[in-house]
Amino acid sequence: MEGVTVVDHPLVQHKLTLIRDKERSTKSFRELLNEIGMLLCYEVTRDLPLTDVKIETPVAPMTGKEIAGKKLVFAPILRAGLSFVEGMITLVPSARIAHIGLYRDPVTFVAVEYFFKAPVNLEERLVIVIDPMLATANTAVAAIDRIKEAGAKEIRFVCLLAAPEGIERLRAHHPDVPIWTAAVDERLDDHAYIVPGLGDAGDRAYGTK
Ligand code: URA
Repeated sequence: MEGVTVVDHPLVQHKLTLIRDKERSTKSFRELLNEIGMLLCYEVTRDLPLTDVKIETPVAPMTGKEIAGKKLVFAPILRAGLSFVEGMITLVPSARIAHIGLYRDPVTFVAVEYFFKAPVNLEERLVIVIDPMLATANTAVAAIDRIKEAGAKEIRFVCLLAAPEGIERLRAHHPDVPIWTAAVDERLDDHAYIVPGLGDAGDRAYGTK
């Protein structure tokens, strides 16, 4: 699939199986979301450009490497994106955060915005949009529309699970936005849930059902 990276690292796949299990506690679900977020962050930042920097170790001067350019922006889609982004922030603590509040209408599945706050100079930064579930892609498309409106030019999308329908729609609307996911599942059901999926990621992360 062009533009889609499935992260098949054994640790990711193992944790994914754990998090799918319906018997998993809220606490454990959140911890796993955080841990998988960290592992996916490692993959999505794999090709970031580096620049030389001179330092002195206790033994000798040397030229090391550091990440070049402006700080990254993580853009979690509320609310499930919040637990998912935590692990990413652990790895990149200086990243800026854009919060995108969108919910999908339970009847029409259309994305409705209720909050948006992003750092300045988005056009100079790599923005990583984060949502655990890429289902219909209505929310992802709306979030990326919004982040582009705010100036972002270079965008990546990270999710835990994707449905083929969601990938197709997101790629059709935003072909310039590559996707990283831990798995591509079978399909969507009549309620637009991913099958086999893991249920409602927000409810499971926050114990609201
Ligand atoms: N959102 C979820 O939380 N789960 C799904 O399966 C689809 C969308």
